[in-house]
Amino acid sequence: MTSRIAIFASGSGSNAENIITTLRENPAFEFPVILSNKADAFVHLRAQTMGIQSVTFTRDDFANGEAIIDYLKHQRIDYIVLAGFLLKIPENIIKSFPEKIINIHPALLPNFGGKGMYGNKVHEAVKNAGVTETGITIHYVTEHYDEGNIIFQAQCPVATTDSPTDIANKVHALEYKFYPAIIQKIWG
Ligand code: GRF
Repeated sequence: MTSRIAIFASGSGSNAENIITTLRENPAFEFPVILSNKADAFVHLRAQTMGIQSVTFTRDDFANGEAIIDYLKHQRIDYIVLAGFLLKIPENIIKSFPEKIINIHPALLPNFGGKGMYGNKVHEAVKNAGVTETGITIHYVTEHYDEGNIIFQAQCPVATTDSPTDIANKVHALEYKFYPAIIQKIWG
């Protein structure tokens, strides 16, 4: 059986692109659509280049959930992958896709997570905390930011000389290596 996956992305979409290019030749997967809350997000250009449909829904649509659920059902979506998606997923979407929505967080949860902790803010907080290690956390999505069951974590060292950008680069390398692999493992 093929797993039909919708990717939700708000920004650049480098993870969305990496997941699709890594797994699209695998007959276990189909990637019918990328959903975004931003019409001008760079992820739409990536989608276009890959020949993948991408659509924008408003912030209200994502908060209400009903139109999104209808759309996903219409597209016969089985699973949802959040890849740099910044809005909260409402309860009705979570109930419609129980244990079928995952997210990647660019740090080792439960540290450096929660509302407002996204993108470079996470790496700046890691830098300011002076920790010697950071990494990625792939987890199931619940109504609360960054609190669902953890599926996988991977670590990388943080040097005292690392800037937040250096940290981001190390974390991105882990994301690119492991996000497609974990999707393959749980839904392939
Ligand atoms: C990634 O670091 C991801 O972990 C976080 O947001 C960033 C998205 O980057 N949730 P991109 O849009 O995939 O390039």
